[in-house]
Amino acid sequence: MLRAAIIGLGNIAQVHMAVIDACPQAQLVALCDTDPGKKALRPELPFFADLNQMLAQIQPDVLHICLPHYLHLWAAQQAAAAGCHVFCEKPSGLNLKEALQMAGLEQQYHVRTAVCLQNRLNRTTETMRDLLSSGKYGQVSNLRANLAWHRPEAYYRESPWRSWLDKAGGGCLINQALHTMDLMPYLLGSPVIALKAVCGQVLDYANQVEDSATLSLQFANGCPGLLQASVANGQDEAVSFDIQTEGGRILLRQQGVWVDDKDGLRLLASDRPARIGKTCYGDSHALMIERFYRAVETEPLSVLPAQLPEDCRYASAADALEVMLMLEASYRSAATHTRIELEDLYEQTLQEQSAAPAQA
Ligand SMILES: NC(=O)c1ccc[n+]([C@@H]2O[C@H](COP(=O)([O-])OP(=O)(O)OC[C@H]3O[C@@H](n4cnc5c(N)ncnc54)[C@H](O)[C@@H]3O)[C@@H](O)[C@H]2O)c1
Repeated sequence: MLRAAIIGLGNIAQVHMAVIDACPQAQLVALCDTDPGKKALRPELPFFADLNQMLAQIQPDVLHICLPHYLHLWAAQQAAAAGCHVFCEKPSGLNLKEALQMAGLEQQYHVRTAVCLQNRLNRTTETMRDLLSSGKYGQVSNLRANLAWHRPEAYYRESPWRSWLDKAGGGCLINQALHTMDLMPYLLGSPVIALKAVCGQVLDYANQVEDSATLSLQFANGCPGLLQASVANGQDEAVSFDIQTEGGRILLRQQGVWVDDKDGLRLLASDRPARIGKTCYGDSHALMIERFYRAVETEPLSVLPAQLPEDCRYASAADALEVMLMLEASYRSAATHTRIELEDLYEQTLQEQSAAPAQA
């Protein structure tokens, strides 16, 4: 049995708590939040306002990080340095530089570091990925994704970090559409090599971060892509994908995968509805967390995340680098009105990282 602690007891922590309670390999042993009122969530558990005190006194095996984005890397570094495995909510940092540091923790401290890209494990994602990799539908000639959600002003006022660039790193792309962006190259099995983005605000909330964005993408296999994301819609719609292939269209609609080919339009698979939290979180937190605990419990650290057996394979901080590079490129492109070549940006960031003085 692995001993789990959570830092950051806001919206998403409720999902982590429920999943840990139901996970056979895990026991929740402590909580941490700077807001003392959050102790009431689980009054029977030791409660800390300070992460390092919790790590020293409780010595948990796994720390779940459910904090504002600007604190993810800091918390992961403290935990890893204390020999504690890390299960971090997305994103894996405020920007690509932080994501690279997060990805280095596994080797630096000999711990496992997961990033919660839970939608990779949705039944619909697996169905679309299997269909595309089977080759049955031939080449993909276009990939379009759409996210239209509703975030009222109160969402930003109740947790003001969400509206500030230095605390969130951005708006609808890093906070809401990150999962959708992550799935685009993941589904195609081909990385994005270049993109151009516009980001802006169509809501009158006085936020620093964007509420709407459009990305034009170029994948390495030659396929073009388009992502439209906005939290300015009047309601939350289900994320949609339109994948045009030689053999027909593959569609994600209302959490279901449809194919439209020579045999007509039919439904192939549907996701389970979310059992805990908002519908848009999906139902795969439990799967990702359970896989991580299985990996920590049963697999030696010498087995790298990509080599783990399927039922232990979690999204590692290294897996999260691709979407963090896409995000960095999007924000740079929007700021400079230029097309960004992702390999150049990655190399440049690595060089800046190695030239920077080592962090304590
Ligand atoms: N995977 C998903 O589908 C999904 C869904 C929602 C949110 N998230 C992610 O989860 C994270 C948290 O988002 P949220 O909406 O739950 O945030 P939130 O604002 O609701 O909660 C953050 C909590 O952290 C606490 N906190 C702040 N600074 C702290 C510190 N120094 N030490 C201890 N506690 C501190 C706050 O008091 C608050 O309780 C974000 O990274 C977000 O992107 C992921």
